[in-house]
Amino acid sequence: MSPIDPSNPALSAFPARRLRRLRRTPALRRLVAETRLSVDDLVAPLFVADGLLEPHPIASLPGVVQHTVDTLATEAKRLCGLGVPGLILFGLPRPEDKDAIGSQAFDPDGIVQRGLAAVREAVGDAVVLIADCCLDEFTDHGHCGIVDPVTGEVDNDATLPLYAQTALSQAAAGADVIAPSGMMDGQVAAIRAALDGDDRDETAILAYAAKYASALYGPFREAVDVTIAGGGDRRGYQQDPRNRREAMAEVSLDIAEGADMVMVKPALTYLDVIADVRAAVDVPVGAYHVSGEYALIQAAAERGWIDGPAVALEQITAVKRAGADIILTYFAGDLAEVLGG
Ligand code: PBG
Repeated sequence: MSPIDPSNPALSAFPARRLRRLRRTPALRRLVAETRLSVDDLVAPLFVADGLLEPHPIASLPGVVQHTVDTLATEAKRLCGLGVPGLILFGLPRPEDKDAIGSQAFDPDGIVQRGLAAVREAVGDAVVLIADCCLDEFTDHGHCGIVDPVTGEVDNDATLPLYAQTALSQAAAGADVIAPSGMMDGQVAAIRAALDGDDRDETAILAYAAKYASALYGPFREAVDVTIAGGGDRRGYQQDPRNRREAMAEVSLDIAEGADMVMVKPALTYLDVIADVRAAVDVPVGAYHVSGEYALIQAAAERGWIDGPAVALEQITAVKRAGADIILTYFAGDLAEVLGG
């Protein structure tokens, strides 16, 4: 009898058969699954805009809107009810309030600060409230920091005190976690020092540590109404997509500066980086499945070319499999409904 004759009883001991045997029923697959995506892993990004009378849809992010302060609080309650444990808030000032230094970012009565207070009031401590800490939504030139008038470049060191001030105002408004996303050197240390100096030892920092200069942020720029002056880009301060080792250097620096959690962004195109970071550090690792990653799925699904919810679940599961503990995704609400709270 041939060793591969199906009637050969020894065949049932072949490793390939063992693997197949464990795929037979949904219950078996459930029992042996290595990755268990849960609603507990998810953070929902939310947008709040100043001066809106009603929520405004974002064309390139179907299903995502710019909220008023009131609808933001309602949406936070809904997500909280679905069991989503974290929210990250982005704000849009009135266009006429943008200026060269992004002063609405650190105005105690700015739109993010009002949004944070409203969400805190609506959901109490039931949700972790994360504030994105950056200037680009608030500057008239759209860069993440102050632009040096002589060189035309972002002035890293002059930007740090503004990040510190922004973080303090966000903590005062109710943020549990400050998430600096501007990729300025020393931003984590500057924010930690400012928080500690203000007796806010309990406020945590989630560092956008390995943030790539990605074309996948396109729909987000529509969401927050940001255009970079003169057709500029962020390659001078965000990471080059060609670099993998560099991400570890960024992560190590941020942890040394006091980051409590670190993040890789985008997610799906950087699964190798997520896996590297997970293997190298002990702090929680986040990954941001960004606007372009969401939009690609929605656009193809709209045309009936893919099964959108299935692809979303597969992609977000892959991000978890790569090693992310915390996943920021515009699918958070949809996934929460599927995964159960
Ligand atoms: C910067 C910031 C960006 C995103 C989050 N924070 C845009 C950028 O760096 O240009 C992108 C998020 C997304 O695309 O979903 N404040």
